[in-house]
Amino acid sequence: MKKITIAIDGFSSTGKSTIAKELAAKLKYVYVDSGAMYRAVTLYAIQRNLISEDKFFKKELIKELKQIQLVFKFNSALGFAEIYLNGVNVETEIRNMKVSRLVSKVAEVPEIRKKLVEQQQKMGKYKGVVMDGRDIGTVVFPDAELKIFMTASAEKRAKRRFDEFMERGEQVTFEETLKNVEYRDYIDTTRKDSPLVKAKDAIEIDNSTLTKAEQFEKVYKLALEIIR
Ligand code: DC
Repeated sequence: MKKITIAIDGFSSTGKSTIAKELAAKLKYVYVDSGAMYRAVTLYAIQRNLISEDKFFKKELIKELKQIQLVFKFNSALGFAEIYLNGVNVETEIRNMKVSRLVSKVAEVPEIRKKLVEQQQKMGKYKGVVMDGRDIGTVVFPDAELKIFMTASAEKRAKRRFDEFMERGEQVTFEETLKNVEYRDYIDTTRKDSPLVKAKDAIEIDNSTLTKAEQFEKVYKLALEIIR
């Protein structure tokens, strides 16, 4: 069977990574969570005191980009690759509210995008990859054989993210989570460099009313049609 590139883009908390992970496991492809890379750079900036709610030392962060090493290592118990920031597993830490609040600011910076896009393109060089994010079908892999664009109402998405926060015992309210989802939608769709837009040849899936299994079946079928 030929190997293809699968790009899954869409708004935050549309369940892109769940579908992408499942699809990669089923097809025996590599799964890459590109959002985790932007989140890990944000975590680095927080640790180095280069960003907070009211300040962002952008130039310093750009200067330090060379010191940021991001590596994905496969965790066989989990069935997917976790992200390491300079040798430390930060897969859980990058999902906290603080990183979520600041990541869009970091993801707006062209120098940061350039570095991460180059790394993403290297990871997908030999195809057989499922990558999810915001600009995968438009910028990272414009020639991807299958492009999916996922949407769902902001309330549905905030509910999903809120449930995740609760599971992890984070002290956040639903209103705060909804605001964060709406804020990130706004920044992600209006930024100058690589804004979130649906690629012309992407297939849109609104999963507000679909179960996970239904979504998976839909995407898996689309992939098989191309692969076979
Ligand atoms: O998918 P996520 O919510 O973990 O992504 C975190 C942030 O990173 C999101 O607000 C936008 C940004 N992002 C991006 O700009 N480009 C990507 N390819 C992936 C994520």
